Amino acid sequence: MKKSCLIFFSFIMAFASCKAGSVVTQSGWGEVDGEGISLYTFENENGMVVAVSNFGASIVKMAIPDVGGKLTDVVGGYDALAELVADKSYQGPLVGRYANRIKDGKFEIDGESYQLSINENTNHIHGGISGFGKKVWASSIVAKNGGDVVVMTYTSEDGEEGYPGKMTVTVEFDLDGDNNFAVEISAVCDAATVVNLTPHLYFNLNGEGSVLDHRFKINGSAYLPTDAQLIPTGQLTDVTGTPFDFRNFKKIGQDINVKNPDLVFGGGYDHNWVIDGFDGTMREQCHLIGDKSGIQMQIFANQPGLQFYSGNFLDGSITGKGSVAYGLRSLIVLEPQNFPDAPNHENFPNAVLRPGEVYNSKIIYRLTL
Ligand code: BGC
Repeated sequence: MKKSCLIFFSFIMAFASCKAGSVVTQSGWGEVDGEGISLYTFENENGMVVAVSNFGASIVKMAIPDVGGKLTDVVGGYDALAELVADKSYQGPLVGRYANRIKDGKFEIDGESYQLSINENTNHIHGGISGFGKKVWASSIVAKNGGDVVVMTYTSEDGEEGYPGKMTVTVEFDLDGDNNFAVEISAVCDAATVVNLTPHLYFNLNGEGSVLDHRFKINGSAYLPTDAQLIPTGQLTDVTGTPFDFRNFKKIGQDINVKNPDLVFGGGYDHNWVIDGFDGTMREQCHLIGDKSGIQMQIFANQPGLQFYSGNFLDGSITGKGSVAYGLRSLIVLEPQNFPDAPNHENFPNAVLRPGEVYNSKIIYRLTL
């Protein structure tokens, strides 16, 4: 083969290996406190597009062509960075140091008591007043396995929001050629602390309108009932014969208004499901199907729980992308994670991270037709 042909051949191979995953581009998305904020956009050969930002390690777009070929963005969020900065509903950021609620913001490790900041009623939620989702993360595109991933890091100082110990968190985002968008979160600390990290994503697989006719399946045979402030009581309740039974596909709206005491406090679903067969390996947690778009999403994770929040507090007062008001039942939140308030329940999975250990949470969002 002539040298020029060889060069051409290797160029095509390099391009092809790049196409096996996705192409990532970086662009500016404004500034926060004088620091430039980036938007990283992944695109694969199927036309799936995912955008992430280093403000809050946020996922701001996840789109694929629907059955009619229309590119459909399936996550809530904002067009402008300033709106994400001001957001109080957690539209897409990584929440932590501890996702969801810790009762009264209190817990103990090794007999030592800690008091976290209080930012909802008398409780601590999603990492506090200025949690990980409100921080500017260091970020870059990194070459890995012949493709590109986006890596973000943030160091949380000892005492931040009341948490003990310094913690360094790394998040790696990656879109492959089979529409698997992977988020891998790891963390290390220099003193015993608690940790629970997950992206707080709102979904509507039709891209707009109601989610009540989406079909939904959760691979969980038990859920955690809560008190009036949505803190788990500590019980694990069998879903059999209750509105919480999503083990076979059913419409989200099918039982959402059933008179069940556990549906009253949140005004719908706002509970953690206990994933069947949890053993720390990757498992399918749930499967959602958009009734109009035909878009399907499976979530796989190595986490013991899935928080399913049916957007009960959405009332049209938030204006999201494309100037659309997010009304009741227009979006649902799905969060693979450890159980809420686990640091205060001995029968819940361990939430304590100690020096020398590495926290690892891996989540894959697979979008298909
Ligand atoms: C919680 C909801 C809460 C929402 C926004 C979800 O993770 O389960 O109760 O309203 O986050 O903070």
